[in-house]
Amino acid sequence: MAAATTNAIAAAKPKLLTDLAASLSHVPSNFIRPDSDRPNFQDVESSDGYSIPLIDLRDLDGPNRSLTIRKIGDACLNYGFFQVMNHGVPAEVVEKMVSVSREFFRLPESERMKNYSDDPTKTTRLSTSFNVKTEKVSNWRDFLRLHCYPLEDYINEWPTNPSYFREDAGGYCRKMGELSLRLLEAISESLGIEKDYINKALGQHGQHMALNYYPPCPEPELTYGLPSHADPNVITLLLQDDVPGLQVLKDGKWLAVNPIPNTFTVNIGDQIQVISNGRYKSVLHRAVVNSEKERMSIPTFYCPSQDAVIGPAPDLIDPHHPALYRNFTYSEYYLKFWNRGLSKETCLDLFKADSPHHHG
Ligand code: OGA
Ligand code: NI
Repeated sequence: MAAATTNAIAAAKPKLLTDLAASLSHVPSNFIRPDSDRPNFQDVESSDGYSIPLIDLRDLDGPNRSLTIRKIGDACLNYGFFQVMNHGVPAEVVEKMVSVSREFFRLPESERMKNYSDDPTKTTRLSTSFNVKTEKVSNWRDFLRLHCYPLEDYINEWPTNPSYFREDAGGYCRKMGELSLRLLEAISESLGIEKDYINKALGQHGQHMALNYYPPCPEPELTYGLPSHADPNVITLLLQDDVPGLQVLKDGKWLAVNPIPNTFTVNIGDQIQVISNGRYKSVLHRAVVNSEKERMSIPTFYCPSQDAVIGPAPDLIDPHHPALYRNFTYSEYYLKFWNRGLSKETCLDLFKADSPHHHG
């Protein structure tokens, strides 16, 4: 009898957070972080007058290119994060992306669930938290993750509800791919290597996107939308709605990065830390939730293709700067990232030049 009841509860247990969250006045125990690992809002540096650099890209393709490159290089060196304005992605394209994702998360759960999977290798999937198969504590987030390059290979897997989802999200992806490539050129130049160096290092290239949905949370001080992590890819271009939640670790303190309209937040991922031989850092960041408002964020993750071999650029290795990382395929890296869970010890530690490793 007891067993049957337990099973019935297990079967009825919702997989997604979005609808469930609205009915809760407390955070369920599986979301509660230990005392030593909580947001501690009172210790967070709020960004009034002090935040990550805001870089105007208007001059990137003009006579002031070298100055803009220098600003990008300084931001990569000192923060691993910057915001960009005048980035060339039309406001209309961004607005359509935001509204179609909002509509997606407002669909009835049964409709959204058609896209559900907890297998991180699936190229289109709706899921919750981070990796429900391996993690011990859950995160206050639902997300739709889409592979989006080459677009023709994946767009047919994407949701068809809302009916213009593919068109609007596809248009957004194309523009974000172009912007990613412009930034990768600028970042290569700022490192003093060939401007197409990073582009060529990425094999056939890859691009993913997540639609992150963080419902209002009754006890935001007990949990995270996403706990502290570094991004595994090359660069991330984050679109935030107007609700704050992103925080970046700077000199041992959490710094809130409040949204600025018409900008993207850019951060260096682990692969640039490797290619730059440690010169640019893939910086820890996290998303916190709040009790008032739902929040959406849409990161574009620009990546190598799975077969690309990543390692430090030879021009950045010399007797004073020995190679810090061994060469590896992106598929090896990516699998480790999803399976070990988000944590403060970055996945990069597993790829140090002198660390033992196995093939396979
Ligand atoms: C991510 C991420 C931050 C945010 O999806 O990797 O860091 O503000 N998101 O949602
Ligand atoms: Ni991230």
